[in-house]
Amino acid sequence: MPKTLICKRSDVPDNGLKECDMQGGLKVLVANSGGDYFAYQAMCPHQDVPLCEGLYDGAVLTCHQHLWQWDIRTGSAIGLAEAPLECFKVEIDDDSIYITAGGDALDVGELFSGIADSTLGSIKALAQRQEMQAGGTLYGIGDPADDFFILESGRIEFVIGRDDRTSPAGFMLRKGEVFGWAALLDSQPLRIAKAKCIEPSILLRINGKAVLKVLESDPAAGYAVMRRLSSLIARYLAPSGAK
Ligand code: FES
Repeated sequence: MPKTLICKRSDVPDNGLKECDMQGGLKVLVANSGGDYFAYQAMCPHQDVPLCEGLYDGAVLTCHQHLWQWDIRTGSAIGLAEAPLECFKVEIDDDSIYITAGGDALDVGELFSGIADSTLGSIKALAQRQEMQAGGTLYGIGDPADDFFILESGRIEFVIGRDDRTSPAGFMLRKGEVFGWAALLDSQPLRIAKAKCIEPSILLRINGKAVLKVLESDPAAGYAVMRRLSSLIARYLAPSGAK
C-alpha cells in the first residue's frame, strides 16, 4: 500500500477512535492515545464486528462483543484476546494522518516465519498477487486444490457443506493468514470449502506443489512449516470448519 491520506488529526477525538473509509473499500481504525496516533484493522479479528463500536479508554481497546482487548500502542492482544490487531504505519504531516501497510503478507504470516531468507525468497518468487472484487469466488467445494492463498488485505468468507445444508465457517481478517491449505497436502486433492471475497481483497496465490519442492531442498524449513501447518489446521477445524 502506498502512503495514503486517511483522515485529519482533527477528525479523531482526544483519546478516541475513528473508523476511516479508504479507496477500494478498505476500512481502517485510527486511534488517538495521549496525542499519538495509531492505525489498525477496522474489524475485530474474532468475528465480523466493527472495533469503533468497542470501549476505549485511551490506552486499551475492548471489543464489546466478547471482550477481547488490545494495547492500543502496539496492537498486542491482552486479556482474553487470542490474536493481535493488524497494524498500519502512521505518518503525521501538519493536520493530516497518512498510513502505509506493514510488511509483506508472507513476512508477517505465521506459516513461514523464521525460515531461512533464501528459502523464503524462493517461495516469494512463486507468489502471484491477485486482486478480487467483493463477491468474487476464489474456489468452490470439489475444485482442484492446486494453489493456497495468503491474505494481504480484505475479508474472505468460508462456507462448508453442500446445497441448502451450507453453513458459514468463518471470516478471514488478518494480513498474513493462510487459507486453501489443501494445496499443501498430498492427501487432499480437492477443496472441502468455498471461499468468497466479501469485500475487495488482495491475495498472494502460490502453487502448493512448487512450494513443497522448495521445502524439500531445505528440510529444516520443511519440518517447521509442516508443524505449523498441522497446528493451523487443528486450530481452524476445532471450533468452526474447514478452510
Ligand atoms: S467479536 Fe470481538 S471479541 Fe468477539
